[in-house]
Amino acid sequence: MTARLIDGKAIAQRVRDEVKVEVERFVVAHGRPPGLHVVLVGEDAASLVYTRNKEKASNEVGMRGELHRLPETTSEAELLALVAQLAADDAVDGILVQLPLPRHIREARVLDAVPAEKDVDGFHPLNAGLLATARPGREGLVPCTPRGCMRLLAETGTALAGARAVVVGRSNIVGKPIAQLLLAQHATVTIAHSRTRDLGALCREADVLVAAVGKARMIQGDWVKEGATVIDVGINRGADGKLVGDVDTEAARERAAWITPVPGGVGPMTIACLLENTVIAAKARMAAGA
Ligand code: GUN
Repeated sequence: MTARLIDGKAIAQRVRDEVKVEVERFVVAHGRPPGLHVVLVGEDAASLVYTRNKEKASNEVGMRGELHRLPETTSEAELLALVAQLAADDAVDGILVQLPLPRHIREARVLDAVPAEKDVDGFHPLNAGLLATARPGREGLVPCTPRGCMRLLAETGTALAGARAVVVGRSNIVGKPIAQLLLAQHATVTIAHSRTRDLGALCREADVLVAAVGKARMIQGDWVKEGATVIDVGINRGADGKLVGDVDTEAARERAAWITPVPGGVGPMTIACLLENTVIAAKARMAAGA
């Protein structure tokens, strides 16, 4: 079998087109565009590219997107003051503080200071808790990359109910939330991590394999079950400088039914889903009478 590639670029464009329509409706209903405010502390080159792309993408769909750049020497109190100011601003629907933060700033303090209803990253403990408790009618904001992965899975038509899903990686940003989302779709979910014994044997049982570890080509081709759907969240620089995923894609393609390429798979979905989250947050705030 040669796996079909899941075209994240095309699917992300569709999501952006959907968001654009929603933004136009929001402007008609509320007389202002949804506002997304991205905060970057420091000079990390990759983070600067990501945050600029977030600002640009939000403006392209008609939102008011703004990037706040603070110097590396910003104190925790100064950052918290900016977050508080954005929290109190009615024209701000989404607040995203780019990670990682400089080491002198306590990440949890900052993430907890973003009001849950403006937390378009879905990192606030309330949103994580709502995801874990899956209360009907009380959905919180879902982290962007996991949301994007679920959309990609949906586009392949992969059956999730009763399927065996293995998530490699247990981060709060990807591994844990995607495991919750798969569970909500009735998959039988195992979360594997650096201490997992015989990872290869575990992966071979997976109908759905999600790799989110951040190690280039760690998931070997013969770890993939025949006919599996493989979602590769990794974005790593290979020895030759090219971007590679956490999965040995070429080898895995021999066995999988569907696989995301790197680049052009999960990557483009993250920003598209951030835009989606911003519209969801904006509409929810207006419905709540904000
Ligand atoms: N750094 C890497 N990924 C992310 C993300 O999804 N959100 C934020 N805020 N920072 C990140």
